[in-house]
Amino acid sequence: MWQSGLHGTGRGLPGALSWGRVPVRQLDPGEGETLRTLRLEALLDSPDEFSSTYEREAVRTTQEWAHWLAAGATFVYDDPSRGPVGLVAAVPDEDGPAVVWLMAMWVQPAARATGAAGALVDAVVAWAIRHDATRVRLHVVEHNAVARRLYERHGFRPTGQVERDGVTEVAMEVRVGPGG
Ligand SMILES: CC(C)(COP(=O)(O)OP(=O)(O)OC[C@H]1O[C@@H](n2cnc3c(N)ncnc32)[C@H](O)[C@@H]1OP(=O)(O)O)[C@@H](O)C(=O)NCCC(=O)NCCS
Repeated sequence: MWQSGLHGTGRGLPGALSWGRVPVRQLDPGEGETLRTLRLEALLDSPDEFSSTYEREAVRTTQEWAHWLAAGATFVYDDPSRGPVGLVAAVPDEDGPAVVWLMAMWVQPAARATGAAGALVDAVVAWAIRHDATRVRLHVVEHNAVARRLYERHGFRPTGQVERDGVTEVAMEVRVGPGG
């Protein structure tokens, strides 16, 4: 069900996807600067929602951003007039490809409640299915009701709680693929 409406762009880019005219695309390995810009903006805008900090990531090297891009797939939502306004990463679990982690989800405040966030979640789920994953997992800060509702609309369900630096996070999971 998650792949309905999913098409290649025909531009020959292996990670490029579109749902009809939904402008979600995978960053290619040379787009570390785009990733850096969006990620640092996200950490400044929403410091309480991520397990990292602006200070920690502002000093990342070009090589480290390239390493991020190589670790799975990173998607942006391209606004037709303003360029990339949203970010999400799909990262295979270190124990194997059956589990993909949805990470670093962020949409610029001006682009919220537009469907951009949902399109980015769909991109991660579609990527996970294409890579034979059976589950997509994430952690979300307990008080983040908007994000939790977003994930619930996409089939994620809570599986437990984890404590991180005194903050309670909810672990969520959705089954994907043929058995999902
Ligand atoms: C989490 C985040 C990505 C969600 O994006 P968002 O645009 O705010 O969320 P949604 O797409 O769910 O939209 C918000 C509301 O607008 C509604 N909406 C979505 N698309 C819409 C559209 N096209 N027209 C009208 N309303 C729409 C949704 O139903 C939702 O309503 P609800 O909260 O009452 O359920 C964003 O809020 C964000 O970046 N937050 C800061 C960082 C963060 O929390 N990241 C998550 C870490 S786990």
